[in-house]
Amino acid sequence: MTGGAGFIGSNFTHWVIDHTDASVTVLDAMTYAANESSLTGLPADRFQLVRGSVCDADLVDELVARADAVVHFAAESHNDNSLENPKPFIDTNIVGTFTLLQAVRRHHTRLHHISTDEVYGDLALDDPAKFTPTTRYNPSSPYSSSKAASDMLVRAWVRSFGIEATISNCSNNYGPRQHVEKFIPRQITNVIDGIRPKLYGAGLNVRDWIHVDDHNAAVWTILESGRPGETYLIGADGEMNNKDVIEMILELMGQPADAYDHVNDRPGHDMRYAIDSTKLRTELGWEPRFTNFHDGLAHTIDWYRNHESWWRPMKQATEAKYATKGQ
Ligand code: NAD
Ligand code: DAU
Repeated sequence: MTGGAGFIGSNFTHWVIDHTDASVTVLDAMTYAANESSLTGLPADRFQLVRGSVCDADLVDELVARADAVVHFAAESHNDNSLENPKPFIDTNIVGTFTLLQAVRRHHTRLHHISTDEVYGDLALDDPAKFTPTTRYNPSSPYSSSKAASDMLVRAWVRSFGIEATISNCSNNYGPRQHVEKFIPRQITNVIDGIRPKLYGAGLNVRDWIHVDDHNAAVWTILESGRPGETYLIGADGEMNNKDVIEMILELMGQPADAYDHVNDRPGHDMRYAIDSTKLRTELGWEPRFTNFHDGLAHTIDWYRNHESWWRPMKQATEAKYATKGQ
């Protein structure tokens, strides 16, 4: 797999080791978003970390040649960073996916490509619609357009070269081992540090939250049983606006509900995402297990409280960067 030292990929690695008898080789460039300690405690006879880029064609070819299947998580993943400096998003998300596609084509290797609901753009707050596999692509940011481009490449390689690939587009993940630049861990670690949480704009933007283990269980299901060439949307009916999420974090951490700051909004900020995961549920029988967001959030808060050494090294630089933008 690629990107296994990041948030979702490291949780996927633990999930696979715990729930299956498969062995995992992680290819990861160990960017600022990676954390090697996310991969501690894994059995040496079933797990290997290879440091390198998914854009390195020779290395990718060598690793794909000995894999039974590839799950492609590696990406630049943060919208705010893509607004500051889009180039790494083009390199990793587009050129990296192209590099991997050429290797799986050469070696006839099964591929699952991890993507995002952001490829569909956003929905209005009063629109009853949700994203489905036939929703038109309409990405807003450099990040989401680079992910949309990568999906298009996968589809083209399926149709033109007959590679055996599936795609999943998932909504916002939360859970352990997520970088403190992201919304939920940023606010939890702010409260731990006595800093008031930071809400972009009015905070009415809606995200469709899913626990990372539910995402990863769905990825495994698609890898095992998904139909080649198909796209599956992964979501757990977890729509909530950012203001309500911050208030829930404050309540769970024993703070007054209004103890947060409104800060500068994100340029081009998508208003609402919502996933219709009917196809995944009816065709492959997947169901989310973490259906109570309040409980899932409480567990996530506990994880950050108990793993300060994991996030502390990245906290100060992350906040300093946000401060330069009034966020
Ligand atoms: P992350 O930023 O936490 O981790 C990304 C990982 O990829 C890091 O370990 C990083 O070092 C690695 N990486 C970056 N560039 C690389 C390169 N050139 N070669 C090899 N490795 C490289 O991201 P995440 O939140 O875990 O997201 C993982 C995937 O899931 C991404 O493809 C993202 O688009 C997708 N996704 C994320 C979410 C979410 O809510 N976080 C939701 C849907 C889809
Ligand atoms: O929808 C899936 C996507 O979810 C993934 O493809 C991305 O990789 C992942 O980063 C995430 O994108 P978002 O932009 O939705 O996530 P982020 O955590 O950056 O922000 C979530 C919401 O919270 C968004 O509306 C912006 C807002 N926000 C964010 C931060 C960091 C704040 O209000 N305050 C903050 O401090």
